[in-house]
Amino acid sequence: MSIDYSDKIPNNVGLDDNRRLQRALEKWQPAYLEWWDSLGPAKSTTMDVYLRTAISVEPGGWAHFDHVRMPDYRWGIFLAPEEKDRRVNFGRHKGEAAWQDVPGEYRSELKRLIVTQGDTEPASVEQQRHLGLICPSLYDLRNLFQVNVEEGRHLWAMVYLLHAHFGRDGREEAEAMLERHSGDPDKPRILQAFNEKTDDWLAFFMFTYFQDRDGKYQLASLAESGFDPLSRTCRFMLTEEAHHMFVGETGIGRIVQRTAEIMAEHKTDDVRPLGVIDLPTIQKYLNFHYSICLDLFGQELSTNSANYFTMGLKGRYQETRIDDDHLLADSVYAIPEIRGGDIASIEAPALSSVNERLRADYILDSQRGVDRWNAILEKAGIGYRLTLPHIAFNRGIGVFAPVHATPDGRIIDDAAWNRDREQWLPSEGDRAFVASLMHPVMEAGKMAHWIAPPAKGINGQPLDMEYVRFN
Ligand SMILES: [Fe+2]
Ligand SMILES: [Fe+2]
Repeated sequence: MSIDYSDKIPNNVGLDDNRRLQRALEKWQPAYLEWWDSLGPAKSTTMDVYLRTAISVEPGGWAHFDHVRMPDYRWGIFLAPEEKDRRVNFGRHKGEAAWQDVPGEYRSELKRLIVTQGDTEPASVEQQRHLGLICPSLYDLRNLFQVNVEEGRHLWAMVYLLHAHFGRDGREEAEAMLERHSGDPDKPRILQAFNEKTDDWLAFFMFTYFQDRDGKYQLASLAESGFDPLSRTCRFMLTEEAHHMFVGETGIGRIVQRTAEIMAEHKTDDVRPLGVIDLPTIQKYLNFHYSICLDLFGQELSTNSANYFTMGLKGRYQETRIDDDHLLADSVYAIPEIRGGDIASIEAPALSSVNERLRADYILDSQRGVDRWNAILEKAGIGYRLTLPHIAFNRGIGVFAPVHATPDGRIIDDAAWNRDREQWLPSEGDRAFVASLMHPVMEAGKMAHWIAPPAKGINGQPLDMEYVRFN
């Protein structure tokens, strides 16, 4: 189904036929635009950006590329096509027809899931607000804005569900999405990783690699939901998430590439004076972003998650491809435990361990990009290797929260942690150094010195195209 951009709110959900819902969303729209204006990308209102816009949700044919004036970007509501005869595929309702309306008994749980997901979307836009002012190239500036407008659309997706299915308290939750702000001491975003700063482009690429990947895993497990509108909206959001992770993976890859080139050329590890980011600093940023993202999956043992699963609201990653009973009544799963200063593994009910399982899927997926960055180092003849730190490192949630651990997974005391933490996590000096490299490069085809050019341009366009035009 193609999308009519002459509508005030472009959509494929038949908004024209539901006047009440249309009016409610049209009432929310100005508040959203005001939020975008004050907390979206700084100083972007005069820019024309080469953006991808959804014009249809059919596979293959949905993306349209053109220069768009940033304030004229049209956010809309798109659901993936309905799957015929879709069923609830797990939990106690397994085999029943998927729900088109919210089941009354699960209303508050579903709302909580949608609000928690929805809150992350505008949070990331707020976190990335100032990055455009220090972009390493027009190509990167365009990618930043592409990510930002899509996160804005993801908020629309969740707000649509709240308005369409949760009545008055849904509308109140939609308003609250624009009232909480990333890092606000009084009204922070719900999840801690979405209150952290993203002040430089190394942090941005780590964010889109690790934090957007958390998004992928959350959306994928919500895409399994028995509540069909949630499933359909998450399936379409996932098509956009892939690009965000691409931005992160290739961004870090290009930084690693540039550093490796300079190291090889000058035969030195001491590259800061040469204006590129040293590998240990890249590792520290990786340690930070990865560990705060592990927290996003929650407690190893979780009654809430067990309930979401049994209720059929949130499944496991690729639930329908897993070969088991999809009820998890009697099965077990290995979860970590701290025993006498060591990390052990115990068997726990699989039903209570779905968070841990999702985290394990995420860890496997995170490793792939690290391997590709290491391949760049290997090719350049550099011996250094980037690694994912141990699951116990720098954790704020779950069994590891009360202890300190090294990146290789040794439990250490407070004194050792305080003495060595700056070897493992970015220090103020590290952040100041990275910040010192962040000068805007806004000439078509030019790149900042500390990052290699990408392998190719956007949508088959040349690298020196004017991806962003200034008016
Ligand atoms: Fe998103
Ligand atoms: Fe994303």
